[in-house]
Amino acid sequence: MQTIINTNNAHETETTCLIASVYADQKLDDTAANIDAAMGGSLQKMITTGDIRTSLGKTTLIHQPHGLKAERLLIVGLGKADEMDAAKFNQACHAAGKVICEQALGSASSCLHHNGISTQSIEWNVRQSVIAIGHANYVYTATKKPKPEDPKVIGTLEVLVTAQSNEIKRAVAHAQAIVTGYTRARELGNLPPNICTPVYLAKQGQEIADKYANCSYEALNTEQMQALGMNALLGVARGSRNPPRLIILRYMGADKDQPPVVLVGKGITFDTGGISLKPGANMDQMKYDMCGAAGVIGTFEACAEMQLAINLVVLVAAAENMPDGDAYRPGDVIESMDGQTIEVLNTDAEGRMVLCDALTYAKRFEPAALIDIATLTGACVIALGHHASGLMSKSDELADELLDAGQEIIDRAWRMPIWDEYQSQLDTPFADMQNIGGMPAGSLTAGCFLSRFTKDQNWAHLDIAGSAWKWGTQEGATGRPVALLSQFLINRCK
Ligand code: BES
Ligand code: MN
Ligand code: ZN
Repeated sequence: MQTIINTNNAHETETTCLIASVYADQKLDDTAANIDAAMGGSLQKMITTGDIRTSLGKTTLIHQPHGLKAERLLIVGLGKADEMDAAKFNQACHAAGKVICEQALGSASSCLHHNGISTQSIEWNVRQSVIAIGHANYVYTATKKPKPEDPKVIGTLEVLVTAQSNEIKRAVAHAQAIVTGYTRARELGNLPPNICTPVYLAKQGQEIADKYANCSYEALNTEQMQALGMNALLGVARGSRNPPRLIILRYMGADKDQPPVVLVGKGITFDTGGISLKPGANMDQMKYDMCGAAGVIGTFEACAEMQLAINLVVLVAAAENMPDGDAYRPGDVIESMDGQTIEVLNTDAEGRMVLCDALTYAKRFEPAALIDIATLTGACVIALGHHASGLMSKSDELADELLDAGQEIIDRAWRMPIWDEYQSQLDTPFADMQNIGGMPAGSLTAGCFLSRFTKDQNWAHLDIAGSAWKWGTQEGATGRPVALLSQFLINRCK
């Protein structure tokens, strides 16, 4: 999707589809009032008769609207004005984008930002509406023959503003970059595990690094990781014919002495559970177990496209968790890269195994902040469902920074307590720790495990098991938390 900015009046705009919005219980805003006047009052009439529905997210598509130069008019309901908030505005914009995509209109002109959140700036409203429309505008086609009636993504989205400004231009450029980033994350998430292997993820990272200025790429193979003693990561990878990679993407947008933000993604390209095999039903869903990797790669792309004044390192721990004659087994004790020993009690707790070595590796970059992103625990889906990512950190400051970023861009996280009291659930007589903590607080004991490898770091952990895709549905990957992380990076440039 390409986004352009124009200063035409909505009611005079020639377009495939003009998008405007109305509240359920308020008079029309200036834009809708002008449209109504051009239509000789028929917009208001259709609202009064109930032909245009005004509850939140309801859409009405009017063909050949009389008096307008637009071929179509799409009216989106905003619901009650006093119940409106940023998340609801996002929802309304998303609904509009969905209609444009499903009707395969190809292009549209939006005024949704004119009638958005009054406590936010016009730039915020523009950016959020473009992000939401861009999010609705995704169709998976990689491994599928298209049918004529399939939805089609918008080629060009026009944003109609009353005045051009550098702030508006930047808002649109940022929105566009974030759409690019999470579209990448969604595509990687949705690709099947026979295509999206660790080597494939590495290639994608390389292509992105080649495309933008100030980027570099590197990937460690099995031998190189052996030399570093990354036995926890390699332990997981041993059961698979698909070799693992530690992918390193660097973006240098600031002075080279400025410590980077380091993002670490869990890239399990398929999680069978290994010898602790998962049940067969829904096992296909474990192709999404690389969504942490997809999220950090997508964020890297967004950051490079925005050319933010920051240094960023993205690490991806990419491996496949399979059962095999050579697979690691329950009872094995493995010495991780930092020397701590781990008793593997469940080979299905593989995410923390690959991440602990990647987190140890991350220390060489002397991070300003170190954040890992992972579809780590089913328990997180139980705790938070699909709307919030689980955030864990010992640093109130870093946690607040991430929570605020998510709130600002409507890609929200919720903090969970990784208190030291939970640590003893990882005790074992046979190693420095075991890799599972039992039934209670499964997300927190996973976080506690990672905390043992990030002791002296400004570290946070995002469990996206619920937010990266909706378990058991066909909706596919959401691209989260690319928006949250992008906003976090943007805020750090201020
Ligand atoms: N990738 C899974 C977590 C997961 C499960 C994410 C379902 C989303 C939906 C992870 O590797 C895993 O298997 N975790 C185990 C941990 C347990 C063995 C301690 C889990 O959650 O059951
Ligand atoms: Mn697992
Ligand atoms: Zn997993």
